[in-house]
Amino acid sequence: MQQKTTLNATSQFHKDVYKGLSDFPKHLSSKYFYDARGDKLFQEIMAMPEYYLTNCEYRILDLYKDEICNEFFKGSKEFDLIELGAGDGKKTKILLKHLAVREIPFQYIPIDISQNALNQLESSIKNELPTVNVKALQGTYFETLEQLCSLQHKRKVIMFLGSNIGNLLHPQAVEFLMSIQQLMGEDDLFFIGFDQKKHPKTILDAYNDASGITERFNKNLLVRINKELDANFDLDKFIHWEVYDPETGTAKSYLVAKEKQTVYINEIDLTVSFEAWESIHTEISQKYDDQVVSWLADKAGMRISKIFSDENKLYKNYILKK
Ligand code: AVI
Repeated sequence: MQQKTTLNATSQFHKDVYKGLSDFPKHLSSKYFYDARGDKLFQEIMAMPEYYLTNCEYRILDLYKDEICNEFFKGSKEFDLIELGAGDGKKTKILLKHLAVREIPFQYIPIDISQNALNQLESSIKNELPTVNVKALQGTYFETLEQLCSLQHKRKVIMFLGSNIGNLLHPQAVEFLMSIQQLMGEDDLFFIGFDQKKHPKTILDAYNDASGITERFNKNLLVRINKELDANFDLDKFIHWEVYDPETGTAKSYLVAKEKQTVYINEIDLTVSFEAWESIHTEISQKYDDQVVSWLADKAGMRISKIFSDENKLYKNYILKK
């Protein structure tokens, strides 16, 4: 690999792309999947039959809504239901609807980096569930959560669905849980989804669909670099490759170069050389069991209070407490 010394990059994206494609082995962060096109592709992934995670979590929330809402309410006067990264809110609406029907007093506070996603969510809730009190907050999870906690002192139920935690390595996941724990009071709850270890074939199929949507999602990183950093990646010269290690429970996504090639990224003045079959690691999607979740919670100063699972134990939602 040839590297030029000048780095006229300013944004974190510039810096991370420069670092990731200069390192050996090469890597790019999965957080950069999500521009407008990536968001759309992820919506398509969630609707795929192979991507069982969404249906399983939907099923759990639907099956156990009464019990989950009891846990959320626990006789408190009024509580804040804070959701980190709410997306289109399809799954959350099951709980919002149930809480509204039972006339349980709460305020729903979705937090998301995308104002556009929040606007859509807020207007759909106002249409479909007019009695639900929504206050959407735009920003990064922790800054926004911190600000909220300093202003408001109601009991909190914090939600993090979709096994989004699985995109973090264990040390980062512990750090993430610790930051949540520090903002929680004794009576507060953290309601979180963890995808479970299962037949490796089921996991591989979820990340390697026949229709090629996940491939497009993975390659969106290259599309973004081409568009935003003025690069000349040829998408046809890379394949999407997924592996799953049943020992560690880690699914890993790669982009693999089909032939020796050189790519130039104008905005960061970087020439990247690929050998034939050289890889770029792009994402991890960790799978868990109760023991690992309990270990992570313990490391972060929390404990498992309740577990909800679908019939086939493919996916679980946990209530964690301080
Ligand atoms: C957002 N995240 C939990 C998804 C996952 O399952 O790791 C992202 C994804 N990547 C490929 N398919 C879906």
